[in-house]
Amino acid sequence: MFTTDTMKGKTVLITGGGSGLGLAMAKGLCRAGADIAICGRTVEKLEKASEEIGKEREGSKVKIYSVDVRNHEQVQEMFNQISSDFDSLDGLINNAAGNFLSASEDLSPGGFKAIVDIVLQGTFNCTHAFGNYLIENKAPGSILNIVTTYAEHGSAFVLPSACAKAGVLAMTKSLAYEWAEYDIRVNAIAPGPFPTKGAWARLVPDSMLEKMMVKQNPSKRLGKHQELANLAVFLMSDLAPYITGESVVIDGGESLKAGQFNFVTDMMSRKKLKMAFKAMKPKK
Ligand code: HXC
Repeated sequence: MFTTDTMKGKTVLITGGGSGLGLAMAKGLCRAGADIAICGRTVEKLEKASEEIGKEREGSKVKIYSVDVRNHEQVQEMFNQISSDFDSLDGLINNAAGNFLSASEDLSPGGFKAIVDIVLQGTFNCTHAFGNYLIENKAPGSILNIVTTYAEHGSAFVLPSACAKAGVLAMTKSLAYEWAEYDIRVNAIAPGPFPTKGAWARLVPDSMLEKMMVKQNPSKRLGKHQELANLAVFLMSDLAPYITGESVVIDGGESLKAGQFNFVTDMMSRKKLKMAFKAMKPKK
């Protein structure tokens, strides 16, 4: 789909790029020609990821930064370091996230704050530092925020994440308008069920839950990391220069469940449905 020219000459920072979807996007961007910076809290994880990313393309440059995105000073220091490590920084993917399942009445203020700090404050910290870097350098740039499908309509049992991701979506649209005059694009991807070790341990610990996720998805499968990486590369690249403020859902149709008559596909097979519809058709 892409060549090594697609992202040639560009450097992208991926927060939480040491594992899961962040790592998959880092690999995809590297294959498409980008140099890569990844940050996270665990150095060993980042080192291992950096080796894996580097193997995706000969001659690629990959650097790691040990940072907690919740800490504004650490984030600012990282951006200073990145600007001396690379010729330029052209893209930022706000992927670092935290989440857990809890009945909302059992949440502690600390639990709510932990998630909002990582997801919303962390995204602000990185976006603010990157935006200022671009504006000072009079350079164009692209920001991609990883939200969720429930950022639009909320979700039970993940209240802190739903509130924080909704905030990130508002940030995406607000900044897309405000920073368009600086040639800075701001988009989002709203992934549905893409299995990762981290998210699945916290959110889908039971294989029954995964089976239900697959069953209620009209595409009858989970997402593949490569599919998400392809979308991220496209949105970050110069193939999409006029797309800004957009949140692209990638979920096999899962979030369209609310359609008034969609439930009937759960009731009977397509063959039986067709027979039932035929029987209901008025005779001439
Ligand atoms: C209730 C919990 C909890 C749980 C933590 N807390 N886990 N409360 N149920 N399972 C509370 C603690 O009691 C504490 O509250 C507060 O949260 C902070 O917890 P710490 O462990 O001290 O915080 P920290 O070490 O910073 O860990 C942050 C974390 C952790 C988010 C809680 O899970 C983490 O680091 N996660 C990062 C990776 C991750 O979550 N990935 C999944 C993202 S997937 P008190 O009151 O004691 O202070 C995703 C995709 C969504 O977002 C879409 C899926 C389909």
